[in-house]
Amino acid sequence: MILDIVTLPDPVLRKKAAPVTRFDDKLQELIDNMIPTMRDALGVGLAAPQVGELLSLTVIETLPDEDEGGNEIEGSRQLFVVVNPKITWKSKMMVDGIEGCLSIPGYLGEVSRHEVIRVEAQDRFGKNIRLKLEDWTARIFQHEIDHLNGELFIDKLVAPDRLWTEEQFHARFEDDVEDEPDTLAAS
Ligand code: CO
Repeated sequence: MILDIVTLPDPVLRKKAAPVTRFDDKLQELIDNMIPTMRDALGVGLAAPQVGELLSLTVIETLPDEDEGGNEIEGSRQLFVVVNPKITWKSKMMVDGIEGCLSIPGYLGEVSRHEVIRVEAQDRFGKNIRLKLEDWTARIFQHEIDHLNGELFIDKLVAPDRLWTEEQFHARFEDDVEDEPDTLAAS
C-alpha cells in the first residue's frame, strides 16, 4: 500500500521518534508499505515520521550506478531497512551537496555532511547490524537519521541563501554547469 507522505508544516516532522521495541507483524507491514511509498515518490529514503509514525525506522535505497551509455546497471541499487540507527563514528571530512526532502516538496538546499559514517542499528527482524557508509549513501543516512530526531535539511543549510525552489535552482545553474553542485533525489 502506498502511504501518504506528511509535509511541512505538519508538527509530526518536528518530533523525536521512539525506539522500536516490537519487531511484530505490524512493524513488518509498515516496512512493506514504506518501501513502495519511497519508490512511488521517486525518493532515495523515507523515515517513519514522514508517514506519520513516530518510530525510529527508515528505509533507504541508493541511486543506481550507470554504465557508459547512462543506463542503470541492474542490481546496483542497494536497499537498506534500518531500525533504531545510531551514528557511532563520523569522519572529520565534510562534503557539501544538494538535498531535497519528500516532506518539503519543490525545494532544494545545500547541506554539509560527514563524508563517512559508521552506524549501528537493527534490521527489520531485530538483528544487530553495523554499517560503514560513504559519500551519497552516508548523506542519505544522515538526512534520514535527522528525521528521527525531528530535524530537517532546511535547519542545516551551509548558508541561508543556499535554499532554492526547483525552478530557481535550475535557472541558477542552467548556464553554469561547471558550478552546478551534485544533486540528490529527495529523501
Ligand atoms: Co527528508
